[in-house]
Amino acid sequence: MGFITPNDFPNLRELYTAQLRYLLSTENQIVDGLPKMIEHAQETQLKQAFQSHLQETRNHVTRLQRLLGDVINDASDKKDPILAAIVGSGENITKETDAGSVRDAGLIASAQKIEHYEIASYGTARDWAQQLGLKEHAQMLQQTLDEEKHADQLLTQISHSANLKASQGATVAA
Ligand SMILES: [Fe+2]
Ligand SMILES: [Fe+2]
Repeated sequence: MGFITPNDFPNLRELYTAQLRYLLSTENQIVDGLPKMIEHAQETQLKQAFQSHLQETRNHVTRLQRLLGDVINDASDKKDPILAAIVGSGENITKETDAGSVRDAGLIASAQKIEHYEIASYGTARDWAQQLGLKEHAQMLQQTLDEEKHADQLLTQISHSANLKASQGATVAA
């Protein structure tokens, strides 16, 4: 699975480029995974939050492809095994719960792990772009970072009622 070997990245620009390619893999996996989460969520508000973030995520893919086209003229991704593991643990939650508020609480937890991973990754990429004098890159990465933070905050809000319902053992009709 070789994530990084020491001499692959002789300078920050190449490390930055690799970060963009891992991020592209991250976003591609989210585009693949979110439809299942939408399907398995029960609360309308949660479904809608996932749905609108799926739209945003498609934009994140497009932005990364543009940035990669700019630095290496190659918009291919580099498999991100960490995100695959987080998505896998989220899929287990679906298998291990019945449809309802407990599953919703688990789906939110899993989605927030993904958002936090993205927030960390985009924060780094934006800083590197700034350091490399790639101003437009830094702006586009900041835009995505803001959307990830917003998605995370919205999930925190939704989690308050979802967790309450889950703790009461209530199941709500779809
Ligand atoms: Fe994203
Ligand atoms: Fe996201």
